[in-house]
Order: sequence, then C-alpha cells, then structure tokens
Amino acid sequence: VKKRRIVITIDGPSGAGKGTVAREVAARLGLAYLDTGAMYRMAALLVARAGVDAGDEERVVELLSGAEMEFKWDAAGGVMVPLLEGEDVSDRLRTPALASLASRIATLPQVREAMVSLQRRAAGRAGGIVVEGRDMGTFVFPDADFKFYLDADPAERARRRWLEFRRRGIELPLEKVRLELEERDRRDMGREKAPLHPAPDAVIIDTTHLTVDEVVDRVLKVVEEGR
Ligand code: DC
Repeated sequence: VKKRRIVITIDGPSGAGKGTVAREVAARLGLAYLDTGAMYRMAALLVARAGVDAGDEERVVELLSGAEMEFKWDAAGGVMVPLLEGEDVSDRLRTPALASLASRIATLPQVREAMVSLQRRAAGRAGGIVVEGRDMGTFVFPDADFKFYLDADPAERARRRWLEFRRRGIELPLEKVRLELEERDRRDMGREKAPLHPAPDAVIIDTTHLTVDEVVDRVLKVVEEGR
C-alpha cells in the first residue's frame, strides 16, 4: 500500500515551525515522525559529555563511531525516541548550548555521512514517515513523495525560540536568542556539505503570519491533492 511507504520531508531554518508541524502532520496521517535535528543534538551531547573539541573532526568521528546512538520506534507515541547509550535523552537535547554545538558538528562531512545512513535506516524501518531537518528534501531523501520548506522572518523565529525556552524554564534575553539563531542560520546555510536551502521541487511556506493549524492545513492539502 502506497500510504505506508510515503516519505514527506520538511526542511527549514530554526524556529520556522518544522517540529510542531511535522509532528502534527505525522499524527494526522498516521505516519512516523523523525526529528533529524535530534540526531545532531545527540551527537553534540556526546561530544560535550566527553569534553572533545567540536572542531577536531578526527576525534569527534572516533567518538561517534564508538557510541551507541539509535532511534527506537515508539508505536504508541508515534515518534522515534533518541537513545544515547540506551538512555532516552529526548528531554535533554533542546538547550541553546546543544543547538549551537550541533550546528558546528553538522559541518563535519564524516559526521553527516554517518547521520545520513542512520536516517535512511530509521525511515526504512518505519515505513511511511515525516522527516524533519535541514537537508531532507535536498540530500537525504531526494525522491521523497512530498517536500516542504518552512521559513519565517528571523525576528519571528527568534521570538518563537525565546518563547519555547521560557516555557521550559530557560530564561534568556531575546536579543541573545536572536543573535545565536542568526549565527546558526549562517553556519547551516553556508557549510560546504548539504547546506540548508529549499529543494527545487519543495513547496515553500512562509509561516511568519500563520498559526500552526494553518500551516498544517496547507501541508495536508498539498498531500491530499497530490495523492
Ligand atoms: O533542527 P534543530 O534545531 O534541532 O537542529 C540542530 C542543528 O543540527 C542545526 O542547527 C543544524 C543541524 N542539522 C543538520 O545539519 N541537518 C539536519 N538534517 C538537521 C539538523
């Protein structure tokens, strides 16, 4: 059945709404959901814990290749749970420090190679899936059934990130969040290997003035019409 093997990619910069939208679209279509940013964040957590310099590709790769990183399919929750050495780290990954470290590690070509094979394997296991990240439609799943690129004004994206942190008890000046987001944008878009940009066949949605529900509806409409 086609529905079970469907692949939907959602790419875009931080704060564009990818995570919330991807999760909801997956739930509504009965598909699995994979947050590939969590993989880079998991690698960042490992690097931070080991005290390894993120610029030292050789050591980072060595560390990652010896580590047990996997995604366990949680059928009840409809999500892939990130496991680091068997530990469920889903609640530990969304900090400003790990976001920035993840973005630095994500520039390392050998790290990306390892991640891509992990991502394709996870998708293969889940059957139909919504994958969210930076290079899903351009690089990891070039033959995806549906590709989306979510974007929003940087000021709005910073505001969303700032709100998310606040809700989770992380108090930071908005300006600091904005600067870190800009730096991450620059790095993610400027790197040599699989930089962030919309795939030529992606549907681009500017979410600046849209609610989550409105974005989800647009995505679902494209999918329904295209099937
Ligand atoms: O989506 P996120 O904020 O959790 O991602 C954290 C960092 O990981 C992001 O700044 C760049 C990197 N990343 C990537 O390079 N490729 C992906 N597919 C997902 C994330």
